[in-house]
Amino acid sequence: MTDRLTLETDLLTQIAAAGDLGVLDAVRVAALGKTGAVSALLKSLGAMSPEERRTEGPAINGLRDRLAAAIAERRAVLEAADLDARLVAGRLDLSLPAPPRRRGCVHPTMQVMDEMVAIFAEMGFSLAEGPDIEDDFHNFTALNFPPRHPAREMHDTFFFQPGPDGERKLLRTHTSPVQVRTMRQANIPPPAPWIAAGQAPPIRIISPGRTYRKDSDATHTPMFHQIEGLVIDRGIHMGHLKWTLDQFIARFFELPSVATRFRPHYFPFTEPSAEMDVQCDTSGGAVRIGQGNEWSEIVGCGMVHPTVLRDCGIDPDEWQGFAFGFGVDRLGRLKYGMPDLRDMFAGDTRWLAHYGFSAFVAPNPASGLS
Ligand code: PHE
Repeated sequence: MTDRLTLETDLLTQIAAAGDLGVLDAVRVAALGKTGAVSALLKSLGAMSPEERRTEGPAINGLRDRLAAAIAERRAVLEAADLDARLVAGRLDLSLPAPPRRRGCVHPTMQVMDEMVAIFAEMGFSLAEGPDIEDDFHNFTALNFPPRHPAREMHDTFFFQPGPDGERKLLRTHTSPVQVRTMRQANIPPPAPWIAAGQAPPIRIISPGRTYRKDSDATHTPMFHQIEGLVIDRGIHMGHLKWTLDQFIARFFELPSVATRFRPHYFPFTEPSAEMDVQCDTSGGAVRIGQGNEWSEIVGCGMVHPTVLRDCGIDPDEWQGFAFGFGVDRLGRLKYGMPDLRDMFAGDTRWLAHYGFSAFVAPNPASGLS
C-alpha cells in the first residue's frame, strides 16, 4: 500500500519534471511498459488471495489510469511548447533580399507571329492550320507543281521513307498546302473554334506554322516559320494584294508608310507571281527598314493560279484570289536585328534573355506591337 503510494508520488514527480518528449517517453516505459513498475504490480495480482485481489486490483488499475492521464497531459504541454519553439525559430525574415529569379520570356519568333496575327486579325483574316507532315498531293501536286517538274527542286524537301502503299510523306516545305486544305475541305469541322473551317469562297485566312527545307546558313535554318495568306473573292486583283501587303508591312514595322516594290517571280501556284521587297538601309551593319536606297526581299506572293482554284472545286471565272507567304523568322530578324538566323533555334538562354519579350504584354495594334 505505502509502496504503491510512494511509487505513484515518485512517478508523478518524474512526469511533471520531464523536460522533453524523449524523457517523458522513458518515464512512460519505466512505469507502464511491459516490464515497467505498474505492469509488475499487475502481475503480482496473480499470487494474491481473492479478497486481496478485490481491493488491490482496482487500486492498481486506478494507479495505471492516473499515470496514463498525467503522461498524456504532460505530453500535450510538451508538444505545444515544442511547436511554439519551432514557430519562433522558423520565423521568415521578410527583410532578407530575395534571391534573383530568372523569368521566362517569349521567343522572338512567337512574338512576331503574335504581332502578325494581331494585324491580320484586325484586317478580318481568320486562322487556318494544317499538319507539319504533309503528303505530296497537298504540298506539291494540288499547288500545280507538275510531277517530276524542276519546280519541285526549288524546295529542298525532307522526305520520309515510303509507306506500305509506296507513298512518301514529307515535312511541308511551305504553308501553301493549307490554302489547298482550306479550299477543298469545306465540309470538315475545324479543330478549334478560332480556326477557320475549310470553306466555300469568299475566303480570307492566314496560316502560321513551321516549315522545313534542307538549308542552313546565316539566313536559312532547316526548320523555319511562315505565315501564309489567302484571299478568294469576286473581282480580286493585284491592287488588293499590294494594298494588303503595304498596309501590313507599315504596321508591322510601326512606320507611317514604307516603300515597297514588286519584283516578277515564279511560283507554280500563282500567276502572275512576285516577290515584294521593302526599302531598307544596311549601311553600318544594322538594318533600318523604310530608310536608304536598298531593297530587302520580304514576301512571296501572287494571284492564285486558275488551275489551283479549279482543282479545289472553285470556278476561276467567278472567283479570283491572291496569296502570300511570309518568312516569320526572317521578318523578326529584320525588325529586331538578329545577325544570324541559326541563333534563333540554338536554344541558348543567354540569346533568349537578350532578344526575348515579356510574357505579360500581348501584341496589339491599338496599344503597340512590340
Ligand atoms: N509558298 C511560297 C514559298 O514558300 C511563298 C508563297 C506563298 C508564294 C503564297 C506565293 C503565294 O516560297
